[in-house]
Amino acid sequence: MASLQDLIPTVNKLQDVMYDSGIDTLDLPILAVVGSQSSGKSSILETLVGKDFLPRGTGIVTRRPLVLQLINTIQDEVHDSSMDKDVGQTHPSSSSSDTNTTNDYTTGSIKSLPSLGTKKSINSNEWAEFLHNPGHKYYDFEEVRKEIEEETQRIAGSNKSISNLPINLKIHSPYVLNLTLVDLPGITKVPIGEQPPDIEKQIKNLILEYIASPNCIILAVSPANVDLVNSESLKLAREVDPQGKRTIGVITKLDLMDSGTNALDILSGKLYPLKLGFVGVVNRSQQDITLNKSVRESLENEENYFNRHPIYRTISNRCGTRYLAKILNQILINHIKVKLPDIKTRLNTLIGQTEQELVSYGVSVGQTTENKANLILDLMNKFASKFISSIDGTSTDVGT
Ligand code: GDP
Ligand code: NA
Ligand code: MG
Repeated sequence: MASLQDLIPTVNKLQDVMYDSGIDTLDLPILAVVGSQSSGKSSILETLVGKDFLPRGTGIVTRRPLVLQLINTIQDEVHDSSMDKDVGQTHPSSSSSDTNTTNDYTTGSIKSLPSLGTKKSINSNEWAEFLHNPGHKYYDFEEVRKEIEEETQRIAGSNKSISNLPINLKIHSPYVLNLTLVDLPGITKVPIGEQPPDIEKQIKNLILEYIASPNCIILAVSPANVDLVNSESLKLAREVDPQGKRTIGVITKLDLMDSGTNALDILSGKLYPLKLGFVGVVNRSQQDITLNKSVRESLENEENYFNRHPIYRTISNRCGTRYLAKILNQILINHIKVKLPDIKTRLNTLIGQTEQELVSYGVSVGQTTENKANLILDLMNKFASKFISSIDGTSTDVGT
């Protein structure tokens, strides 16, 4: 089955060429993580991105929205590694029948996917950049974490205050899909430190600003050791998505439930209706973090946990962060699938217009615009044959 990693080269290529041709982008959904304080939001985001870079810990850690833009760098790499300025514009033929996911259409530069688990997280082809500090490239993701902490303090102070002003961070990497994720301050009930008395309302309004957009996929996080009826994330999600069409329920801390209890009913969708369903995850504990456990180790632990659990092992193929990534992948594919016919129509018009224009100038057909449009059509067909048939067969499985 197609995975998130399979999508990367095709979708990025598609977006790249479309952008060059002045056609609207695919407008991929924004992914926002919502939940009460310390419910595991930042942990989930880190595992999804495959990098250690977010401040984590007990208490109120995320005090400003973090808008995280993942940027695929296959094209940039071509530019960087070559003196030839034209290389980045010369789009290769897409007629190759190669379906090997480790071989992208441009450079063949993806060799291992993804680069999880490096403790120091230093890799010359992966770097971060803050909007508030443009031009400064961070290759060490420990430094990224430090900068997020410092920048949080600069604006929101060193106490427990929060700020609406987002921190904008871009991560450039050949291993990510062009996608925007948002980490948000946790919902809190009781003001602490210098927090104003209406802190709960402030945080809720801030979250609503992000999740109200119909183009936002809401990851509504609820810790398993708190009754689902009291889930603040589901309450908020319901306000903007009453039919539960773009909300995914994520149950964290399954490992911390009272012994003898389990979340099987929740995970099976029997307690709360969400079209995209619920996924149970086990993130790193505070001790794991103190011991510097890597993302990769954490993913392995999580898989073992579900495979060996007396109850969850029967549904282990629908549990864990990898499965969550798979659902997100299917959402993206479905989204693109919806967009393709319209793009195709506009491309065909563009080709027709260009041909006519060229003919009227007495120029022979086959110039740039037409080539680009044809290339996009090619890529779209490739996308369709590679992903859409598999989705048609599996989309009803999501979250059931
Ligand atoms: P956030 O405030 O929602 O962003 O939560 P964090 O991701 O920062 O996690 C808060 C604390 O809970 C950290 O100490 C994490 O190690 C811990 N934690 C998060 N998820 C889990 C989990 O699934 N199991 C366990 N045991 N601890 C978790
Ligand atoms: Na919650
Ligand atoms: Mg957080």
